[in-house]
Amino acid sequence: MLWEVDDTMRTISIVNQKGGCGKTTTAVNTAAAFAELGKRVLLIDLDPQAHVTHGLGCDSDSLEKTIYDALLQTGGVLRDAIVRTRIAGLDLVPCNMLLGNAEVQLASVPGKELLLSRCLRSVCDEYDLCVIDSPPSLGVLTLNALMASIDVIIPVQAHCCNMKGLRRLLDSVQIIRERLQSHAAEHIYLLLTFVDDRGAFGQQVQQQVRGAFGRLVLSTMIHRNVSLAEAPGAGKPVLTYAPQSRGAADYRVLARELLDELGLRGEPPAVNASVQGGGPKGLVAKSDGSRGPVGKPSRRTPGPDSIEST
Ligand SMILES: Nc1ncnc2c1ncn2[C@@H]1O[C@H](COP(=O)(O)OP(=O)(O)OP(=O)(O)O)[C@@H](O)[C@H]1O
Ligand SMILES: [Mg+2]
Repeated sequence: MLWEVDDTMRTISIVNQKGGCGKTTTAVNTAAAFAELGKRVLLIDLDPQAHVTHGLGCDSDSLEKTIYDALLQTGGVLRDAIVRTRIAGLDLVPCNMLLGNAEVQLASVPGKELLLSRCLRSVCDEYDLCVIDSPPSLGVLTLNALMASIDVIIPVQAHCCNMKGLRRLLDSVQIIRERLQSHAAEHIYLLLTFVDDRGAFGQQVQQQVRGAFGRLVLSTMIHRNVSLAEAPGAGKPVLTYAPQSRGAADYRVLARELLDELGLRGEPPAVNASVQGGGPKGLVAKSDGSRGPVGKPSRRTPGPDSIEST
């Protein structure tokens, strides 16, 4: 029997097999922005590079328990690996390089792709949201992230997007879902990152991505911003490292757009200064006074034939 994803806590994984596209930056700062909005958030570092762990100022060598223990030990308990961060409302499940062994150690374990889902069930009443950072590969760790999440964000570098690679990734997610007959990864969101308004080429790529993938692409874009690159070195999310920076502003807007998409927020959404077309699309007042998408097409993972070619 497949392990159902529990819906009391919404889990969002950040996935792309392409390296350096902004997965970790998005995981850390979206999680921090959710916490700033008053949500109880659990951030999981599922990448053996441990960039989330280091980026939140956590020394990975001194950890007693990590996500590795929760995933691999018999009866491993996720709660033992949770640490508080300096951000109110944001807890972390850190990792270290040991997690790199997991791919090999789990190779022949039955149900290996459902280990994280099982772990998360033990804490699903304690958090509103869980955000998972994944490695730049489609191995067993990323599979665990996908199987634990209904919502998946794929960061896409605006200046060098590989459309074929992106289609292949979407196809792979679809195949995984069909093979495992799961609701996992049902909603896909493409997030344009490293956006530079000044470059004509960057704008061309943005239009290409929006033209090809339509409503899968989030309205919010993350601009290239030096504070985003500096913050991990200070062991902080950009929201506390440089609260007034454009990077912080972008991730605050992103968090609000996502909460609207997930139906977890009642207040009016903020508008990203450079959202094309002047603001979030399809957002109108609902009868209950909240704002949310009306008549908005589903963001279900498209099948291989459902994406227009460019
Ligand atoms: N919008 C941005 N503007 C400037 N620098 C950024 C931005 N987003 C991320 N960076 C920096 O770019 C580098 C790559 O970003 P990040 O680590 O988030 O990518 P990743 O997809 O997680 O990489 P990997 O695949 O290796 O895990 C990091 O040094 C990060 O600080
Ligand atoms: Mg990363």
